[in-house]
Amino acid sequence: MIDNIKELITEVEAFKAQTKEEVEAFRIKYLGKKGLLNAFFAEFKNVANDQKKEFGQTINTLKKTAEDKVNTLKAELESKEEVKGVSGDLSRPGEPLQIGARHPISIVKNQIIDIFSSIGFNVSEGPEIEDDWHNFTALNLPEYHPARDMQDTFFIQTNPDILLRTHTSSVQVRYMENNKPPIRTISPGRVYRNEAISARSHCFFHQVEGLYIDKDVSFADLKQTLQYFTTEMFGKSKIRLRPSYFPFTEPSAEIDVYWGLETETDYKITKGTGWLEIGGCGMVDPNVLENCKIDATEYSGFAFGVGIDRIAMLLYQIDDIRLLSENDVRFLEQFKSAL
Ligand code: PHE
Repeated sequence: MIDNIKELITEVEAFKAQTKEEVEAFRIKYLGKKGLLNAFFAEFKNVANDQKKEFGQTINTLKKTAEDKVNTLKAELESKEEVKGVSGDLSRPGEPLQIGARHPISIVKNQIIDIFSSIGFNVSEGPEIEDDWHNFTALNLPEYHPARDMQDTFFIQTNPDILLRTHTSSVQVRYMENNKPPIRTISPGRVYRNEAISARSHCFFHQVEGLYIDKDVSFADLKQTLQYFTTEMFGKSKIRLRPSYFPFTEPSAEIDVYWGLETETDYKITKGTGWLEIGGCGMVDPNVLENCKIDATEYSGFAFGVGIDRIAMLLYQIDDIRLLSENDVRFLEQFKSAL
């Protein structure tokens, strides 16, 4: 009988199956209640004492071989089914997939980048922790210049030369130091000012500043470029440049877009004037060019800066700037359908 069992072991080892049903039939034949193994175990008591040990060992080997066979065949067939995509419980409810949304600041920033890329501007970036030279001195704001007060600055306490940049004009200084004209670059990024936090202002916000330097760049080029931008961004082509002052540009201006007075919201956001201020601009001061080793007798340029948060608030009618940095999912979820 032992030889008989040994033959079965070889048979089990050689067994192959294509379907789960074949595996199940095999399992029942060997390991089922009325299967061969149980029959052999029942036989055990009739085996002569001197053969009991070998007999016992042999049926145990058969049992183990059959069990292993069933397990490997089942695993093989299941993994084949998974590949075909029919495994698992098809009636189970689907996993709720959380769809993310882009932050409104990113949406607006990307739109601005797209618009300026289409007219040949590249994107430049720089550090948020700046030194005095790049944020102020190179921009024609020497030490003790009163205009430094225009921008409430966060200084690093132990080193007054290091500060959190108050505008991304600092990136433009870096760009001019490292690149030769013609220069066409926009610098998006986060900036910091020591202001009380309210619905209208925050101690950090986002800007995109633009810089164009070449031979014979004129104020008319600046106006055309801004007009192109407002038309693409807001669908509004009427702009007005109001005389203003920035230490790094001369002449300087505030940029206003004519928003119109068609709806109640138009009245509210333009305070009844129809005009909306979106940023500052001007012709780069020759001192700034010289500070950045660009020959001001040969080259001229313009620069401008617009606030991303302000534009996002305008486009999405967000009435509290703090919502932009609180990361409240209920707020952010509303931008799922945006670009
Ligand atoms: N840097 C200015 C600001 O942060 C904006 C600006 C940029 C104005 C370029 C003129 C030219 O307020």
